[in-house]
Amino acid sequence: MEHYDFSKVVDRRGTSTYKYGALEQVFGRDDVLPLWVADMDFEVCPAITQAIARRICDHPVYGYTMPPESFWQAIIDWQRERNNFCFTRDDVCFVGGIVYGFALVVNHFTRPGDKVVIQQPVYHPFNNILQAGGRQVVNNALRRTPDGFYRMDLEDLERIFAQQHPRLMVVCNPHNPIGIAWDADTLREVARLARQYGVLLFSDEIHGDLMLFGHRHTPLATVSDDAAAMTITMGAPSKTFNIAGLKSSWCVVLNPELRQPFFQWMEQNELSSPHLVALVATEAAYRHGHEWLDQCLCYIEGNITMVENYCSEHIPGVRAIRPQASFLQWLDCTALGLSHDQLIDLFVDKAQLALNDGAMFGPAGSGFMRLNVGTARPILEQAMSRLAQALRQD
Ligand SMILES: Cc1ncc(COP(=O)(O)O)c(C=O)c1O
Repeated sequence: MEHYDFSKVVDRRGTSTYKYGALEQVFGRDDVLPLWVADMDFEVCPAITQAIARRICDHPVYGYTMPPESFWQAIIDWQRERNNFCFTRDDVCFVGGIVYGFALVVNHFTRPGDKVVIQQPVYHPFNNILQAGGRQVVNNALRRTPDGFYRMDLEDLERIFAQQHPRLMVVCNPHNPIGIAWDADTLREVARLARQYGVLLFSDEIHGDLMLFGHRHTPLATVSDDAAAMTITMGAPSKTFNIAGLKSSWCVVLNPELRQPFFQWMEQNELSSPHLVALVATEAAYRHGHEWLDQCLCYIEGNITMVENYCSEHIPGVRAIRPQASFLQWLDCTALGLSHDQLIDLFVDKAQLALNDGAMFGPAGSGFMRLNVGTARPILEQAMSRLAQALRQD
């Protein structure tokens, strides 16, 4: 069995990477440790690099693409084996990124003025795309549980469905920024309500292969007939295998009445044709990436545990909430008693750390920070010690 080294520190500066390139623009300085944008700092699975190199170097003709059957089969096999999500070639198409795909769904299935439900705190582009397109955003806010984790407010959701008649709801499954792996009962109830009130469901499952600490991913479309009838699912190898820059994602719609017009519209407008490198990398990842991913997830769990222990021993004002999925850790900083501006000042100017400000995911995220732990542990240890030191000096 090959052993992959996730502790290697990879210098990503000067490689046209957003995580570094936008530091000055977003944080006002570039001498901060970048632990924000949700890609990982790990080198990708060598099978991916080799497949890309073979295609690019051994056959230097880069014409229009047509995905081979083996590409679709790699997606189908991966989802069946890892997530028990079963679909056929007809049910799936390519999309060049999930944010792009969400924008397509919004454009195809809704009209300006329509209401769309999101559940804040949640990945901010959902809100941005909806606002930009003149859709009305309705927030079915997540609720905190007594143990400090989060749950859906299904009573509020039913009230919203019944009284506001939204056209679409976004289910972030697993939920970024908190890393919640929604359970089948919750998803089943969402789907039941959606069918009863005629609300389409967009399930963003981009983090669904990054399950931690024994949690399982439950694809929304699999939980019931209601879910299969109402759900448009998008997923990707991008977060899973650290290939977000290749913009490769897939869309599955089991209900033919939704699928046929949507897929046809995308095809007629040439919105779903893959670029060459995405094709090659995706197939290689799904065929040969199992072992790499399993080791990667172990390493991420180690990072999460390190941050938890460090906070409880040295930074008691910061509570690291354990994610059930993905490489993003939600830090509850409310006990520090700082204003929003003071918290940003602490992280950015005093500790020289670039994390995502929790408020960007919705007002309830204020007082929280999102830490990207998909990096070499020595970097994370350095970040923790900078934060502890900044607090000591405060
Ligand atoms: C929930 C969620 N959806 C979508 C994306 C971005 O997907 P893409 O790069 O494929 O547009 C992210 C990235 O952080 C995410 O967390």
